[in-house]
Amino acid sequence: MTLRIGVLISGRGTNLQALIDACAEPAYPAEIALVISNEPGAGGLKRARDAGLPTEIVGHRAFGNRSTFEEALTGSLRRAGVELVCAAGFMRVLTGTFLDIWRDRVVNVHPSLLPAFRGLRTHERAIRSGVRFSGCTVHFVRAGLDEGPVIVQSAVPVLPADTPEDLAARVLESEHECLPLAVRWIAEGRVRVVDEIVRIDGADGPADASINPPVAR
Ligand code: GAR
Repeated sequence: MTLRIGVLISGRGTNLQALIDACAEPAYPAEIALVISNEPGAGGLKRARDAGLPTEIVGHRAFGNRSTFEEALTGSLRRAGVELVCAAGFMRVLTGTFLDIWRDRVVNVHPSLLPAFRGLRTHERAIRSGVRFSGCTVHFVRAGLDEGPVIVQSAVPVLPADTPEDLAARVLESEHECLPLAVRWIAEGRVRVVDEIVRIDGADGPADASINPPVAR
């Protein structure tokens, strides 16, 4: 049995592509049941179609308010039999009503080491702040902006000559590793949220890598 995931996108979809590639591995324990974009022109829709995946456009502008938009999302996800929702560059805030329905079943990838640099322009802000490391976070989604229990983080260096684009590219590579990893662990039933902290069965030893929890290779 593979876990049926629904991927929410708004843009070019490189994280969606990482999930598509992971799901193409026979031993990977998840499959993409549906890709939803809130933007009709999202480049990620082509990636999904090229991979033969079902796609839907749920354009937020067509709805009068967030609740009807989110009801449409839930309807589409349920019809597709989705068990886990992955926000992969999905640029709409999800409300508590949606998140209560999908409690501990929505993950997001964010391009910083949360709780640092929530929100937008993360790389520009990281560089301006002078931090030596940035990275990405995959977390369960809660109602606050970029809030929720951390599942995986990966750190990358911030180099003195970095432009925001340089740092974004370095972080993006780590996103492509971490999102499929988090989904794998959830699909394997190894992920528990205890008092709003994520515990991963079999990955609780000392960290020895810039990905935490460390990955057995
Ligand atoms: C990624 O860097 C993702 O972390 C970020 O948008 C980019 C989407 O790229 N998401 C957010 O900022 C959400 N807060 P992609 O479309 O190529 O996957």
